[in-house]
Parts: sequence; C-alpha cells; structure tokens
Amino acid sequence: VKRVTTHVLQEMKDNNEKISMLTGYDFSMATILDSAGIDVILVGDSASNVMAGHETTLPITLDQMIYHASSVVRAVERALVVVDMPFGSYQGNSKEALSTAIRIMKESGGHAVKLEGGQEILESISRILTAGIPVMGHLGLTPQSIYKFGTYVVRAKQDEEANRLIEDAKALEAAGCFSIVLEKIPADLAARVAKEVNIPIIGIGAGGGVDGQVLVVHDMLGINNEFNPRFLRKYHNLYEEMTKAVQSYIGDVRSGDFPNENEQY
Ligand code: KIV
Ligand code: NA
Repeated sequence: VKRVTTHVLQEMKDNNEKISMLTGYDFSMATILDSAGIDVILVGDSASNVMAGHETTLPITLDQMIYHASSVVRAVERALVVVDMPFGSYQGNSKEALSTAIRIMKESGGHAVKLEGGQEILESISRILTAGIPVMGHLGLTPQSIYKFGTYVVRAKQDEEANRLIEDAKALEAAGCFSIVLEKIPADLAARVAKEVNIPIIGIGAGGGVDGQVLVVHDMLGINNEFNPRFLRKYHNLYEEMTKAVQSYIGDVRSGDFPNENEQY
C-alpha cells in the first residue's frame, strides 16, 4: 500500500480531494481505522478524556502519549500518524519543545507532531521543523487552554479573535507547518482560512468549507453517550450495542447457556 505522507495531503488539497482524519489511541481501533482507509490518524491528547476519564486534556503525560502513539503505529500500514504534544511538554521554551518532539518521533514511530497555538509558539515550531519533524498546527478552541477560555463555546466569533486567528494561520504556514486543525470556529471564518492559506486545513466543528474533517473516534461511533455537540455526527450507537452484547453475555453465563458443548474442550 502507498503510505499517506504530508506531501500526499498537500496534493489532496491541490486536487480538491477532502482529507479524512479520526483520532486513535490503541492498536485494535487503529487497525480498523487504517484498513477502512482513513487518511490520517491523530493520537490526540483527547486520550486524557476518552481513555483515562479525565475532565480535561491537561493531565496526560508525554510517556502516556508515547504509549498510545506506539500502539497506533504498530497497527498502521497506510495512514499518516500525527501525535499531539501534551500540555506542559512544549510551552516552556523551544529546546524543550524540540526534545519532546524528538522523543515522540523516536519512541513512538509517529510521523508528525501537533501543537496548540499560533504566534506565541512559533519559535518552538520552527525549531522542531529544523530537525525534520513535520508539524501540524491547531487553532481556535484549543483545549489545553480551557482554563483561559473558561468555556467550550465557539471561538473567534468576534472580529478581533477572528483576525488574530487568520494571522496565526498565515504565520504557521509561513513557518512551514504542513497542515492546521481548526476547532469549533464559525464555518465562514474556517472557509476563509482554507482559501487564504495553501496548506490543508482540517476542521472539527468548523464547517464544510475546509480541506478535511476530524472527529474523536469514540464520539462518532457513539461509544461516548454523554457528548452531544452540534458538530458531531454519530455513525453508530456503540454504547447501546456494546451494552446489549455485555448483557447477553451476563445472561448466558448466569443461565449456564455459555459455554455450550461446542465451546469447550
Ligand atoms: O486531541 C484531539 O482529539 C484533537 C482533535 C479534536 C483535533 O486534538
Ligand atoms: Na488534542
């Protein structure tokens, strides 16, 4: 199979082909995503919420991110694997950011890293890029800054924040990022960014006028019953399906129906 690279993603944008991206945190799920034909798997720090049950993405550690990423990489034959740099692993200074990115690349085998923020982390991004590590940006609702925002509502509805976001996107492109995620911003603004920068823009809650879409896989499979934002399309109700399967098993064990004669030695 031909691997998806950052160059393939650029060609996709240039040819008006949309890019599909989902999060993945473990080997079994990544096997399914990759064989289904997903273009990009994001080992998101949303693992902090989805895998570990934390309320925010802040607590997850670099070691934990590397564990998730290496599990995903072992499953993948085609997709580009992008790994989130966790909170606190890059904000200090650009040298710290580079050593974090190097650890991720070396220890997980991931293909690229993602950092949240714009002009304020440009020096770190440039330094990581000089080491030959591809960088994906992330603007808009950046969950590592949730305590600054104080709320998960749509970002950049006012001109000041919108203009700043456009400047940030252009700065990330100029620095050499291969792509940018835009999270939970007005669709018009996201479409404008996708037009004004040449690198692929991947949206989550950012409308259809961008170059690709990303969702948290547990959300779109409906494994996660509690999270129902407007931007989420649920493709399955796995919470219900899995509950039914587990209940059938419990019933069969209790009744003595499982195991039957063919299910034993
Ligand atoms: O961690 C994550 O899942 C993400 C996506 C929502 C873009 O960063
Ligand atoms: Na993230």
